[in-house]
Amino acid sequence: MKILLKNVLMISAYNAEPVKGNVIVESGKIAGINTCDCMEEDQFDEIEDLSGLLVIPGAMNTHTHVAMTLFRGFYDGLEMKRWLDGILRAETRLYDEAVYYASLVGTAEMVRHGCTAFVDMYFFEDAVARAVRDIGIRAYLTRGIVDVDGGLDKRIRENMDIFEQWHGYDGRIWVGFGPHAPYTCSMKCLEKVARIREELDTFVTIHLYETADERCKYRMEDLEKTGIFENAILVHCVHPPEDFTEVVGKHRILVSLNPASNMKLGNGIPPFMEYLEKGIPLSVGTDGAASNNSLNVWKELYLCALIAGDRVNLSELFAMLWEMPGKFFGKLGRLQEGYEADLVVINPEVPECVPLGSLRNNLVYSGIPGEVVYVMVKGEWIYREGHFTKVDMKEVLKEFEKHVERLRMH
Ligand code: NI
Repeated sequence: MKILLKNVLMISAYNAEPVKGNVIVESGKIAGINTCDCMEEDQFDEIEDLSGLLVIPGAMNTHTHVAMTLFRGFYDGLEMKRWLDGILRAETRLYDEAVYYASLVGTAEMVRHGCTAFVDMYFFEDAVARAVRDIGIRAYLTRGIVDVDGGLDKRIRENMDIFEQWHGYDGRIWVGFGPHAPYTCSMKCLEKVARIREELDTFVTIHLYETADERCKYRMEDLEKTGIFENAILVHCVHPPEDFTEVVGKHRILVSLNPASNMKLGNGIPPFMEYLEKGIPLSVGTDGAASNNSLNVWKELYLCALIAGDRVNLSELFAMLWEMPGKFFGKLGRLQEGYEADLVVINPEVPECVPLGSLRNNLVYSGIPGEVVYVMVKGEWIYREGHFTKVDMKEVLKEFEKHVERLRMH
């Protein structure tokens, strides 16, 4: 399948200015981009004339618990401890089918805001994987692992089962491991997870220093010894100890900043500028819909831009959405030959995005990527003009509400 997207305006990478041209997609990958006027059109299976529209790489949301759309608005206005108590109680009532529909809703929300890939940590992750398969988005999934009630081995086993069943599915679904946090996982548990991660050659993701009191609960040198910092997405990092950047700088990591969730739960503001200045690979995540409550990752980028004020440039910001997570996971985040064809087509001629002369600024500082018209993942259109191509969203929303009601009743 060879597709030509012609007459587009494109921003091909984090540091590129918008240019007019064509994008060629073949076998799920970008086969090339060019700025020529005359393409030989008979070599293509599909030609889309996208005059007036903007093509950009798909954004990546590097931290969420996508099925928490079920609890959106349940415990708003509570500080972290009381919020968590409420959520943990609600989560004991979860079941597979509710997670499936909630994941369809959450992934749909991300797609509608120009996001083509996300990292997840939750339970019933098999149901999340089925939703990802069905809607067509790209995902990096983990089973949340805690080591608090003797159920550690069972949870690790479940994570491994999901790995065996889904890792590599359609070249879109990848499975890693999700130790929840060092205050819910012992060092022994982290060691065990790190060892399995290495054997299976995959990634881990973990919440780290989300709250100020975590500084007294565990130390970087102990964490480092467990091996958990290899191929790891470190989430939040709002209150890092002094040696944080030095230690993580020695390993292959990606930090996921979730400023909306941190502020909403009263945990403070992540030290974005310190990380940027030290060259730490950065990305943005929304966290779950119970603590944000939006899954639009562009809003997180907007907040980072505000936190940094005049000390950051647009390329550094776009890199958090495209380049850094793209590099961490492979060849993603650019419209460039050989990269995955995960892209978003936007109508930039909406009030939030004009004047078009400052389009890059407007995309970041409006907190929305214009009006998303089409979304492609791995060379396949999954969203076209308000409709999902693989799932009936009206039906999904109806089923979703039924499950929310059932969870509220018990
Ligand atoms: Ni989280």
